[in-house]
Amino acid sequence: MKPLRIALTKGRLEKDTIEALEKIGLDCSAVRAKGRKLILPVGNGEIEVVLSKAADVITYVENGVCDLGVVGKDTIMENGSHFFEILNLGFGRCNFALAGKKGVDFYEGFGTKTIASKYPNVARKYFESRGMDIRVIKIEGSVELAPLLGLSDGIVDIVETGTTLKENGLEVKEYISEISARLIANSASLKLRKKEIEDLAEKLEKVL
Ligand code: PRP
Repeated sequence: MKPLRIALTKGRLEKDTIEALEKIGLDCSAVRAKGRKLILPVGNGEIEVVLSKAADVITYVENGVCDLGVVGKDTIMENGSHFFEILNLGFGRCNFALAGKKGVDFYEGFGTKTIASKYPNVARKYFESRGMDIRVIKIEGSVELAPLLGLSDGIVDIVETGTTLKENGLEVKEYISEISARLIANSASLKLRKKEIEDLAEKLEKVL
């Protein structure tokens, strides 16, 4: 049978994901010694790992080119979910938060507020749920710069240790929701390879 293909988010979640796979007895030496290779065997070849950017993990799983994916809830909330979220992996824990300049009341004044974010859909939904009209500017990197440069009144971003905010004179104004890594599955794969996927999810659940 062809290997079960799992898309893994590079960076932040990579180390914890590899450790979790090793904890359930899968040999990840090829992933650890990856170099520039992007599709790597895991275990005895029963699993294949694809290292990708978070949003691409979702694209691959939704389109069925990967059976499973490991991705943060932040990316899921931003990009929708035409797939099954089968397990909360528990690691990669952080928060979505509204942040702004230290000591400044975010809600002061009457004008429409501007929010900068790498997660415009999450930001929009959050303020919609509070009945507030806002303008959202999409930023690709270091969103903390936006209020410092005067581009926005606040940011909606992930906060882990809070160090980035602190070092830039910003603070959390409101916590929006908790985030952690999730195991997601393509819906057809979940039917066709149910046993393999359930076995893997069960083993992961036990060690996490
Ligand atoms: C995230 C986020 C913050 C930072 C928060 O960026 O956008 O900038 O981490 O972490 P802290 O609270 O521990 O300081 P990340 O490092 O994931 O980089 P990115 O810009 O590639 O998303």
